[in-house]
Amino acid sequence: NKLVVVICGGGNGAHALAGIAGSKDDVEARVLTLFADEAERWTNTMKTNDFVVNFTENGSSLKAKPALVTKDPKVAGEGCHIIYLVVPAFGHRQYLEALKPYCRKGTIIAAMPGAPGFEFEVREILGKQLANDCILMSFESLPWACRITEYGKGVDVLGVKGFMKGSMHGEGGPTVLGNSPLEAVTYGQGSLGNRPTLICKGHLLGTTLIAINSYLHTTIMYGRWHDWDGKPLAEKPLFYNGLDEVTAKMLEDVSQEIQNIAREIEKRRPGTDLSQVVSVRDWYLDTWPNHIPDKTSIYTILRTHKSYPGLVHPMEPSKDGNGFVPLFTQRYLTEDIPFGLTVTRGIAEIVGVPTPNIDKIILWAQGVMGKEYMVDGKMAGKDIGETRSPQRYGLKTVDDLLG
Ligand code: NAI
Repeated sequence: NKLVVVICGGGNGAHALAGIAGSKDDVEARVLTLFADEAERWTNTMKTNDFVVNFTENGSSLKAKPALVTKDPKVAGEGCHIIYLVVPAFGHRQYLEALKPYCRKGTIIAAMPGAPGFEFEVREILGKQLANDCILMSFESLPWACRITEYGKGVDVLGVKGFMKGSMHGEGGPTVLGNSPLEAVTYGQGSLGNRPTLICKGHLLGTTLIAINSYLHTTIMYGRWHDWDGKPLAEKPLFYNGLDEVTAKMLEDVSQEIQNIAREIEKRRPGTDLSQVVSVRDWYLDTWPNHIPDKTSIYTILRTHKSYPGLVHPMEPSKDGNGFVPLFTQRYLTEDIPFGLTVTRGIAEIVGVPTPNIDKIILWAQGVMGKEYMVDGKMAGKDIGETRSPQRYGLKTVDDLLG
């Protein structure tokens, strides 16, 4: 009676989870990767090699293989209990579509990270009924910082989080795991081990709104580049540690706009728990208690954070070879705008909360990205279909948003 876990994806995170879940006696870990020839490469490599997860923090390692790696959704999905989405947000759709036939009442769908709009995507693809029957879990991030050592052979886990926050929809009731109330978080924890502790609290929309990268990365990009004169820079500027005071203030203002959205929804629908949606400063103090020497303000927090030295803006060599120019085709914009800030802005539009700072960022970003998400103050641009903004799914009311 094993817990059958499907790990969707074939990257760093999927490698880590495949080894960790695969090492549990009571778990059958299956990997589903639909991308290119990953399933074939991984399967072939495992035939003649061990699969090793190295925990670089304490020098320990795990030797354990997933039960199978496949690109066939039927082979992966039949009889599964938990589906983990461990791919960037743009990849969620194809896995949800592929595994829909194998979702039943009580199937857990856990996204690590969920990223803004995860719940809108699931509801559209599974349909409202099935989405409500399943247990949806959306986490803020991955449990680990990890990098593949060699494809299909192993992965270095550079750090394990102490806890990982998320939210959940659906609880209890008869389930695929038997007729007892399902302790979804316990099952999720069972395939990960003791760390990180999973903390699931509040409505899924809270995880969508608090998604830190969606406004942190995009605000820093805006702050640094919106009035750039186009001249190459001799050096790549520091991303976090190089924050200036004007951008720090904007970050606080954007964070306030997001909190305003959450508080307005809570007011309009009493009982809705969006308490995860806190200020950017409180989020940092809570998430990184031991990494911030100067906690005075968001400016000092980002400039002194111990994990950030050396992290620079995404740049490429300038054509004239005289330095570096910013790269706008990098995930700080290409993921964090369509699967991030446009979702927040779309929610604000439905709730009727003004977001002047978020608007500035989206209008600038869509310009440098050559996209059109927002027109005349509405999330109605021609490229809205590439986002997870609620308007893309035809959601119109607060109840639509809450599901
Ligand atoms: P990754 O970059 O290793 O994953 C890439 C995988 O996504 C590929 O192996 C493939 O299976 C799939 N993929 C890539 N391009 C595709 C395409 N065009 N079509 C379909 N599938 C495609 O990502 P990783 O590192 O596993 O991270 C997963 C998520 O977790 C990302 O959103 C990442 O930002 C986030 N994250 C990663 C951390 C890390 O240390 N690796 C830490 C915190 C968050």
